[in-house]
Amino acid sequence: MPEAVLAPLSGLDTLDDATCAALRARLQEAGFTSGALDDAEAIAPMMPAALRAPLVRVHLKRRPGTASTLLAVFVHRFGATASGVREALGDALYRKALAASLLDECDGRVSSRWILLPFGGRWYLSDPLESGEDAVMGPGMTTVMLHGWSEVFDAASVLDLGCGAGSLAVAAASRGARAVAADLNERALAIARFNARLNGTTVETRGGDVAETAMGEEFDLVLAQPPYFAQPESERGSTYLHGGRYGDELALRFVSTAARRLAPGGTALVLFDFAQREGANVGEKVREAVGDAAVTTLAITRPSMPLDLNAVHTAAWHHPALGPEFEAAATAYREHFHALGVSALTSVLVVLRRPRSAEEPRWRVVLAHGGSKPPSPEALRDQLRSMDFAARPDAALLPLTLVPARGARFEGEWRHPGDPDPLQLKVAFEPGSFGSDRELGAGGWHLFALFDGSRTLADVVREHAEEAELDAAPAAKEVIGFAREGLARGLMRVAD
Ligand SMILES: C[S@@+](CC[C@H](N)C(=O)[O-])C[C@H]1O[C@@H](n2cnc3c(N)ncnc32)[C@H](O)[C@@H]1O
Repeated sequence: MPEAVLAPLSGLDTLDDATCAALRARLQEAGFTSGALDDAEAIAPMMPAALRAPLVRVHLKRRPGTASTLLAVFVHRFGATASGVREALGDALYRKALAASLLDECDGRVSSRWILLPFGGRWYLSDPLESGEDAVMGPGMTTVMLHGWSEVFDAASVLDLGCGAGSLAVAAASRGARAVAADLNERALAIARFNARLNGTTVETRGGDVAETAMGEEFDLVLAQPPYFAQPESERGSTYLHGGRYGDELALRFVSTAARRLAPGGTALVLFDFAQREGANVGEKVREAVGDAAVTTLAITRPSMPLDLNAVHTAAWHHPALGPEFEAAATAYREHFHALGVSALTSVLVVLRRPRSAEEPRWRVVLAHGGSKPPSPEALRDQLRSMDFAARPDAALLPLTLVPARGARFEGEWRHPGDPDPLQLKVAFEPGSFGSDRELGAGGWHLFALFDGSRTLADVVREHAEEAELDAAPAAKEVIGFAREGLARGLMRVAD
């Protein structure tokens, strides 16, 4: 694969709104949709493009047609015959696409210096990742995750922080939100504006470093997938990819900014990889980044890519043709982790919530998510709902019935049946559910047993007062405090 060169932006201005509308309609008609993309993506997933390429070619050959032609040109960049692409786009759009440098024709073959990806009923233009330090990233796996979680929120204003091709901002604008796309890279902003036009909507853009961007503005929802890959000294940096020596330094600056751009009641989601190393703890790092910003913090962690795979992918993005340059880069990335003492990468979704009033309690919670898949939007919504309940005043909590969180199992171990002294009591979470296993004291175990769905919190207070021979006020304080902690830390939820 030849070293790609960034395509000129100037051509995009020649595609007016009417042409963009015609292009959308044609791409849809041609079957160039997420479904067609997903079929090809299912082939040898998680492999570098060069290794997958032969099988993807076979797949596209077996399904000749306009969708396969457009996938070959705009996604897999194999090129196609001029006649095939002309048929897929129609003559008028084909000529406009050539004039705008969306396509290049040479000796009857057509290729593109752009990537055009269908995603969620829309299309996004972006750059091939190997085409230089300012290449602009289009929607990928992590974008899909953030997009899914973002749909949990009914946000009137959305900030896409580090927007790349503006995928999340454009999706939010299409849902009717005021969407602002922010990025250090001016090329990203130009592409985000074009992608908004391509999809028949508009986004506002803000330039500059993350620390200064959208200063003084507040949003209902802030979405960010910062660059979070580690950069060895020997490797050339890319604005879209590298987040510092460990990789997570820039992401933590994004967390800091996101915490300061929230409207009351607003939520920020920042997704990145954290490099596990001696003396660095993700909860602490997030706490430092948030600093004095008045927000509740939830960090949801799960294992990310193994270090070897991370090194292979990072090297392959820059050297997609593999060969000696790829070999040197993959070695450099892997050795870099080794030299820094990084033992693993942890994927972290940082959720920040600005309370509506200064009186609401704030929480700092770290939860491990079991299972190989990321937390589902429903699981995220349930956890945030529990945290919202935890912030309510006592009087609002007492009539509620609380039960153990979904997937929570209470496990006890005794030396022999009937032994009054347990060896261990703990709450454990099933794979795929949402919470960190933890040990319980005998008091906590006993209280938990009362949250079986048959009592309101007020009933639990009464029962606890009787059993522990406490006055009503201290019993209420103990039980409500326990329930709040349980709701905020993923152990309990309000019954449906
Ligand atoms: C991984 S890409 C984001 C992709 C996009 N959010 C998506 O999901 O498709 C990270 C983006 O952060 C931008 N970026 C890098 N350093 C930055 C900084 N210091 N301030 C603001 N944006 C920055 C890059 O230009 C890049 O577009």
